[in-house]
Amino acid sequence: MIDRNTIEQIMDAAKVEEVVSDFVALRKRGVNMIGLCPFHNEKTPSFTVSPSKNLWKCFGCGKGGKPVHFIMEHEQLSYPDALRWLAKKYHIEIKERELSDEEKREQSMRESMFVVNQYAQQYFTDTLHTTDEGKAIGLNYFRHRGLRDETIKKFGLGYSLEKRDCFASTATKAGYNPEIIARTGVCYATDDGKLVDRFWGRVIFPVHTISGKVVAFGGRILQNNAKAAKYVNSPESEIYHKSDHLYGLYFSKQAIMQHDNCILVEGYLDVISMHQQGIQNVVASSGTSLTTGQIRLIHRFTNNVTLLYDGDKAGIKASLRGIDMLLEEGMNISVVLLPDGEDPDSYAQNHSTQEVEDYIKSNKVDFIRFKTNLLLGEAGDDPVSRASLIGDVVKSIAVVPNDILRSEYIKKCSEMLKVSEQLLVSETAKIRKQRAEEIYKRKQQGAEQPADSNIEPAEPQPANGNIQQEIIESYKNNPLYSKEKAIIQFILRNGERELLVPEDKINGIPSFTESVISHIHYSFESDAIAFSHPLYRQIFEEAVQYCNEPNFSAERHFLAHPNYEISSLTAELCGDRYMLSKFFSENSNNEERNEKAVLFEQTTRLAVAYKQSIVDELLKETMNKLKDPTIANDSNRYLEVMQNFKFLKETQQILNNVLKGYGFGNAALNV
Ligand code: CTP
Ligand code: MN
Repeated sequence: MIDRNTIEQIMDAAKVEEVVSDFVALRKRGVNMIGLCPFHNEKTPSFTVSPSKNLWKCFGCGKGGKPVHFIMEHEQLSYPDALRWLAKKYHIEIKERELSDEEKREQSMRESMFVVNQYAQQYFTDTLHTTDEGKAIGLNYFRHRGLRDETIKKFGLGYSLEKRDCFASTATKAGYNPEIIARTGVCYATDDGKLVDRFWGRVIFPVHTISGKVVAFGGRILQNNAKAAKYVNSPESEIYHKSDHLYGLYFSKQAIMQHDNCILVEGYLDVISMHQQGIQNVVASSGTSLTTGQIRLIHRFTNNVTLLYDGDKAGIKASLRGIDMLLEEGMNISVVLLPDGEDPDSYAQNHSTQEVEDYIKSNKVDFIRFKTNLLLGEAGDDPVSRASLIGDVVKSIAVVPNDILRSEYIKKCSEMLKVSEQLLVSETAKIRKQRAEEIYKRKQQGAEQPADSNIEPAEPQPANGNIQQEIIESYKNNPLYSKEKAIIQFILRNGERELLVPEDKINGIPSFTESVISHIHYSFESDAIAFSHPLYRQIFEEAVQYCNEPNFSAERHFLAHPNYEISSLTAELCGDRYMLSKFFSENSNNEERNEKAVLFEQTTRLAVAYKQSIVDELLKETMNKLKDPTIANDSNRYLEVMQNFKFLKETQQILNNVLKGYGFGNAALNV
């Protein structure tokens, strides 16, 4: 079984337009793209791709879904194999196994930590924009650094007051668990057990995961004061492994894909200023040298990296450090050095977009030229230095995995260094052989560890379309399914959202909020109702189980479900937004109405409509019984059935009254 996190990663990374355009020629039409459907014969395109919804749909043959469903259909793969296919395309490593109980606990701890971070980010942003100190000091600082307000907002920048426990006390008062707060590192506990802020008196840079969750913070001191560190960063934690994150990737991944190039810089402000200047395919390694994890992140989006560093010694050193590792991962690398004394931040602040782009374009050199030139300058004519230089460059070339690329580098290097290609080829071969032997040895030593190919046998291949067919068939036989489907669809789209239950004056219960899922759960439980469709029942039970977890999103959860039928149904139901919006359209013209109140109304309608159908069904059954002569002749049983009939009639009346009581009327109940 591929684990859920991996499936989510794959679903996040897989862009429908990219996946589909590997097989279908698409052209733009408005916000969508269209092409000829690969699944049926057509001459005019009815195959539509929606990049914003990340969905595809053919209006000719009716097929549609997420990228993974396209691959299943097109490549005739099972769900897990289609996920593997996408994982490969996006360089995502597949983790395949069940989580143990311990791991499940850890997972929920991690989720709580994300909730704290989210809260902290909001707190720091609010502090920046709404407090006097925040505005006077923090906002002023950012503006002095040339940042516009929309930039400050986009990156979620913030400010932490100059008081040691402002966040700590606000967060604990708001009910956040001190232990979890400390684990995130936003605060830490002193020796006497007091919780204090880590970032007090600093401006705040939140660090986002690739999918936009806040995973860490950087805090910059305001004066360039030699005594304190310029930046303080969140420590490593269960959720934050510095080496697996790149600052700015969440904001730049789209542009990186579009340009098929990632510009790598050093610092927070380098990223932000470049973005502000309209150059958005930029990320930062945040001062440390690049790690393999970071390189793999970039590799999901592009093969091409441009290192953009200061032209001073430190900048040059930094670029050299990253190079071999990037080469090893099979990346194409170029280097751009800025004029001495400039970093990307200052350069972007002081030049126009065009000037920055032109500078990068005309100063870009590929890695081999960069390294060779640099070393040549250092070595001069000294033969010994020259020999070691050749060895150095060859070492870099040797790590390049692609044969063709490697021989191109060798050719270029031979021209520049004026050494024979032959020599370079044999030198690289030597190094490669050595490395291969080392790797082999290391593998032998670690052989007792399980090989990473413990992939379970592929799950039975669903015959595509059959499941949908089956569900459609069963609607015909069971009139309840359409109501159940409407509820499931509503839960998938809105399940985690909060609704407002109005005050119950008669029973003296004040109004309160709860999630859509909880509300339906209690409403059904009190009437002992369970879904009759097995798939819907499973989805519902799981939704109830997970709905109180932080950051739970029903659509996300079920889309990334290990069970193909559930994932596919989710794609279908969430994609088909038209049906529900039509059903509820009468609410949309009443915009002042509180969203939570509207949600309550919608939920109630669906639940009551479902209950009414159940009662209708039971009534039909009961009527048949009353007509049944064997019952009609048995006075005891007849009485029993009669009572049941009466009870059902009353229930029907109550259900109608529920809707009337909330003033919904009865008209819109035909789901
Ligand atoms: N950095 C850090 N801790 C430090 C110094 C630096 O984490 N004590 C990281 C930060 O991510 C910083 C990057 O390294 O953005 C580059 O450092 P530096 O060039 O010193 O800072 P700048 O980004 O240029 O910051 P500023 O322009 O505000 O001085
Ligand atoms: Mn700087």
